[in-house]
Amino acid sequence: MTKKYRVIQYATGGAGKHAVAGIVGHPQLDLVGLLVHSKDKVGLDAGAISGIGPVGITATDDIEKIVALPADCVSYMALWPDVDLICRFLESGKNVVTTSGLLYPKFFGPALVERLEKACAKGATSVHGTGVNPGFSGEVLPLTMSVMSRRIDQIFVREFADFRTYNSPELNHDMLGFGRTIEDVRGHKHPNFDLMMQFFHQSIAMVADGLGMPLERIEQTEEYGLTAAGTQIESGPVPAGTIGGIKTRFSGIVGGRPMIVIQLVWVATYDLGEGWPSPQDASNHTQWSVTIEGEPSLRCVFEQASSFEHKNANESHTAPAMICTAMHAVNAIPYVCDAAPGIRTFLDLPLMAGRYAVR
Ligand SMILES: NC(=O)c1ccc[n+]([C@@H]2O[C@H](COP(=O)([O-])OP(=O)(O)OC[C@H]3O[C@@H](n4cnc5c(N)ncnc54)[C@H](OP(=O)(O)O)[C@@H]3O)[C@@H](O)[C@H]2O)c1
Repeated sequence: MTKKYRVIQYATGGAGKHAVAGIVGHPQLDLVGLLVHSKDKVGLDAGAISGIGPVGITATDDIEKIVALPADCVSYMALWPDVDLICRFLESGKNVVTTSGLLYPKFFGPALVERLEKACAKGATSVHGTGVNPGFSGEVLPLTMSVMSRRIDQIFVREFADFRTYNSPELNHDMLGFGRTIEDVRGHKHPNFDLMMQFFHQSIAMVADGLGMPLERIEQTEEYGLTAAGTQIESGPVPAGTIGGIKTRFSGIVGGRPMIVIQLVWVATYDLGEGWPSPQDASNHTQWSVTIEGEPSLRCVFEQASSFEHKNANESHTAPAMICTAMHAVNAIPYVCDAAPGIRTFLDLPLMAGRYAVR
């Protein structure tokens, strides 16, 4: 008989609502609880929130009730990683798979590692951070490709993402700065800005460790593109003259030179001028290209779409990437539940597959 795992979902935002659908559709997983942050979702059926029809699990914001609920795993997709709460889940015997950071806790130093390991030991559980990027494009892909390298001179990961249909006002506007002036963003840094940027620092640290490279430091730069005409995106207004594009570059320095580089090109509009994606790029898919310069030089281009065969002009750029993010976590649940207790990163877990996704 197929082994079953009881899963609690935490949060039903862009990623979380796809996770609910993924859990419900996965024959090894049973959705047993739903924790939400938004008051207006309390009492609603998990399936109704996720657009898949009723599934008989009611959303609650009662953390104590959820911590006490017997389950094998929490699929944690809230806006931020609440380490206290994650430790409570781990101590109570629930493994945690999350898209909300914690990809490579070692990056943050021994205090966090010890805290998580202690909670895992107490509950005989594991914690795993994942996603599409970080999670797949910035770590799994370059590490997997590197097995074919004789010499690596540089790893360069470039992400292109269109934020017009990413309906996360806090992330898009309050934190990243879409629709605000450069002065405002630089003068009023969101309290969790560094935490979000460290999602990508963790990727670099993991890849460096995976390849046995002594990482010296990570340098980070941000460049902003201003929209000429202004626009309205799903998460809010982006007035003329405000930030409509953000390029962030993270350089992992090894031997005094940028060895592992991640560049994020995020746009809310296509009137940003020279050096930015042009209007012809507006129908492009969310894309990652991973280039390993060396012997031989390797490049892998990774895209998602609702279909490559049936082009839909009104297609959401966000939904396929959000499904990838959610499913990388959902499909990892059996592996994480079966792993030895502790922090389990991609460097520890076996090659994971989308078991049961084949129809
Ligand atoms: N690694 C990757 O590839 C990747 C990709 C995308 C996102 N992420 C990360 O995954 C997490 C979820 O992203 P998302 O796109 O789903 O974000 P989102 O659409 O903004 O949704 C986040 C959800 O978190 C809950 N929430 C809101 N405010 C909160 C608060 N103050 N404290 C705790 N929870 C709060 C809400 O859940 P309810 O509506 O259910 O109340 C909200 O819908 C974030 O940490 C994001 O950075 C990772």
